[in-house]
Amino acid sequence: MSQDALKVAAAERALTYVEPGMRVGLGTGSTAAKFVDALGKKVATGLDVLCVATSEATQSQAEKLGIRMSTLDETPFLDLTVDGADELDGELRLIKGGGGALLREKIVATASGRMIVIADASKKVDLLGAFPLPLEVVPFGLTATRNMITALAADVGCEGDIKVRMLGGGKPFLTDSGNLILDCHFGRIEEPEDLDEALKLIPGVVENGLFIGIADLAVLAGADGVTLLGA
Ligand code: 5RP
Repeated sequence: MSQDALKVAAAERALTYVEPGMRVGLGTGSTAAKFVDALGKKVATGLDVLCVATSEATQSQAEKLGIRMSTLDETPFLDLTVDGADELDGELRLIKGGGGALLREKIVATASGRMIVIADASKKVDLLGAFPLPLEVVPFGLTATRNMITALAADVGCEGDIKVRMLGGGKPFLTDSGNLILDCHFGRIEEPEDLDEALKLIPGVVENGLFIGIADLAVLAGADGVTLLGA
């Protein structure tokens, strides 16, 4: 089965948790996009849901599919958010932000009664950190912020390169909120809670890509079929 087919399988299983009348948060990334596609097909056959997107890209995809959209200000409590992840461990702790949408993703997921993570099974790891942890940071004072991240992360056992995410042509990647992304190549995150707490102390860090205590269920698609974590 191709990776694309695994993403579709996870997305289609997650769709079974969507009920008529629900308010649904829509994630960002290639797996979340499969869910939005599948939801769009259901909406075309009459399912009525109201959705909030976690990025401009997802907003535009959902609008094209005719999904009824709202904003988090108009609809501040959602029943369910379905989103992808870059890594997840057995305790449903996630690294997110590979697509640069971690801030809105965390706001939307936290405003939801439930968050379901969809992924191909290769995203499940024993220890977080092989995927570089994304941080959304304000451009002002970048060097000072980066130095504080280096120092505080080292205090909790995380050391490694911290790189500004770039686009082609030497331009930095900017998030939908106009901020920068720092990708932290820590390799191993032994104590995700401690790192999360340390990062929250740094003023220039708007949000970090560790999602702890937010996801309720993971729908993982592998060669042997779909497995549920946290059910
Ligand atoms: C975007 C995200 C994505 O959910 C994450 O990067 C996974 O993406 P994909 O499904 O394309 O592997 O956090 O900010």
